[in-house]
Amino acid sequence: MSDLVARAVLERAAYVHVPFCHRRCPYCDFAVVDMETESSPVERYVAAVVAEIAMAEDWQPVHAVNLGGGTPSVLDAGHIARILDALEERFGIEAGAEVSIEANPEDITARYAEALVKAGINRISLGAQSFDPTVLRDLGRAHNPEQAIAAVRAARSAGMDTVNIDLIFGTPGESLESWLATVRTAVDLETDHLSAYALTVERGTALSRSVADGAPAPDPDDQADKYEALLDHVDLQHYEVSNWARPGSECRYNLTTWAQGEYDAFGLGAHGHRNRVRKRNYRRLEVYVDHVESGRRPVQGSERLDSWERERERLFLGLRLRGGVHGGTAGAALLASPAGQRFLEAGVIAVAGERLVVIRPLLTDAVAREVLAL
Ligand SMILES: C[S@@+](CC[C@H](N)C(=O)[O-])C[C@H]1O[C@@H](n2cnc3c(N)ncnc32)[C@H](O)[C@@H]1O
Ligand code: SF4
Repeated sequence: MSDLVARAVLERAAYVHVPFCHRRCPYCDFAVVDMETESSPVERYVAAVVAEIAMAEDWQPVHAVNLGGGTPSVLDAGHIARILDALEERFGIEAGAEVSIEANPEDITARYAEALVKAGINRISLGAQSFDPTVLRDLGRAHNPEQAIAAVRAARSAGMDTVNIDLIFGTPGESLESWLATVRTAVDLETDHLSAYALTVERGTALSRSVADGAPAPDPDDQADKYEALLDHVDLQHYEVSNWARPGSECRYNLTTWAQGEYDAFGLGAHGHRNRVRKRNYRRLEVYVDHVESGRRPVQGSERLDSWERERERLFLGLRLRGGVHGGTAGAALLASPAGQRFLEAGVIAVAGERLVVIRPLLTDAVAREVLAL
């Protein structure tokens, strides 16, 4: 594991945000353009992303590319090829690089999956969320379990190197049996990689409004039980709080971000980290596109972290990894703090040689909050 991190910290990655979604899911607060209700100038957006990539500072070829969203699978394979060509032209893409796309199951036909592979995509992350039709309905998803299963098979037949399945657990009304059946289906599909997230009520979403109006909220104890059940039923390697993989199929792009490596980022609301500077793009579509079309970089803000902030961030990110992180000065400061002492005594964190490890992954966010307060 530490070898993976040692490699990731030296790797370069590129993120491209594709904000369009067929419709917005009630729980989602990502930078999304709802194609049902909002103007969705897909062609113009792809042209803007290509132009933004052309404006990027020189760099060496990248080791990982991630097309994230939103729903990048609303694009046709020609759009995706144009974006990858722009990255190839500007930076180069290393031979053997991971080139990944996030996709909604209902978009993945055999023909589309083959076209993606032809365009250069070799990893697909499918937002299955659950294989229970009632849970999918409660999450407001547009696909059914059969479509998600067919999407996994289509991706495999098309020759994707890595297939990931995203799951959400702890939707109100989901039983433990339903969750275990979902996990079993993912395991039976022989997924290479699994990401599983507890349903979170994000501020400003339709879900948070219905919870405020009296709808049931996700129950943290129920989510803890489901997380434990997942640990018992998946024999992939658990390498990050929410991520499991076959050895060798860990996500290089994500590892780069957790290892505080460098990644450039393009598109609406995208966040990047290069030359020790963190930048974020405009989150309003018109503002983003207008900037690029008038030849300006669409960066809303950027900051250079001082050396203590970087050290603290290194610990904050690295503690998400199941192998832990080199403690360093931030680790020493955490252990010297009252909160750090409490975590240590309660067996939430442990010291393993020079490394600091979160033993109880469900409490990672609580530890991370204390790290940010150092
Ligand atoms: C940015 S979404 C993009 C994926 C794709 N558009 C989809 O929905 O299938 C990435 C993943 O984040 C997770 N996610 C998004 N909002 C969430 C929330 N409020 N709680 C838990 N997981 C969430 C979902 O598992 C989703 O697949
Ligand atoms: S969860 Fe995925 S499909 Fe749903 S709104 Fe968010 S990005 Fe779009």
